Amino acid sequence: MGKEIKQLVVDYLKEMEKSGEEFLYFDRHDDVQSIDIGDKLKQLEHECKKCRKCVLHRTRKNIVFGKGNDRAIIMLIGEAPGFKEDEAGEPFVGNAGQLLTKMLRAIDLTREEVYIANILKCRPPKNRDPKPEEVDACKVYLEKQIELIAPQIILALGRHSLRLLTGYEGSLANIRGNVLYYEGIKVIPTYHPAALIYHQEWKKGSWEDLKFLRRLYTQIHPVK
Ligand code: URA
Repeated sequence: MGKEIKQLVVDYLKEMEKSGEEFLYFDRHDDVQSIDIGDKLKQLEHECKKCRKCVLHRTRKNIVFGKGNDRAIIMLIGEAPGFKEDEAGEPFVGNAGQLLTKMLRAIDLTREEVYIANILKCRPPKNRDPKPEEVDACKVYLEKQIELIAPQIILALGRHSLRLLTGYEGSLANIRGNVLYYEGIKVIPTYHPAALIYHQEWKKGSWEDLKFLRRLYTQIHPVK
């Protein structure tokens, strides 16, 4: 489509949207090209499957690219796949994942409504922390995912995710309750679900973060 015609279509749809009409393919992605988001994500996943940019490709069974609604308003970003995720090729399917599903359900969200991804797409052996060179090599995939999905809120699960997205290096307990930003997108820091399994005392704070997430989401996407 020529650029001028495309702009006319975008302007027309914007006017219609203001008048209350809803369009399947028109929202914050602000461009008719948003129709291709799913295809572009698939292409990125395909590239990721071939990735050999760090040593983790040698020990992975599967890459764990990410899963969910590719037009999600909320994106959840964890650390790295564990044993079960590496087996399944899907994020958060082990114990921490089950807890995460319950946490979402508690604020009336489903995994299908959000998009879930990790910083690293391959499992670090023995679930050790990601190494800086692995994060550096892998972050391009996450950056591109965020750009394509264009969420309005990111729930940063744990300190690694928060550090990569915002540069914040301090303790999670000191920053949670605040909104930070990644490329203009709101970032809500919260505890990683795996940490909550061992630290029951963090559950109260986690619940507050979830309720805050729900409030922000409802403001953007009022319940009809
Ligand atoms: N922990 C993470 O950070 N991500 C997963 O996918 C699973 C566990």
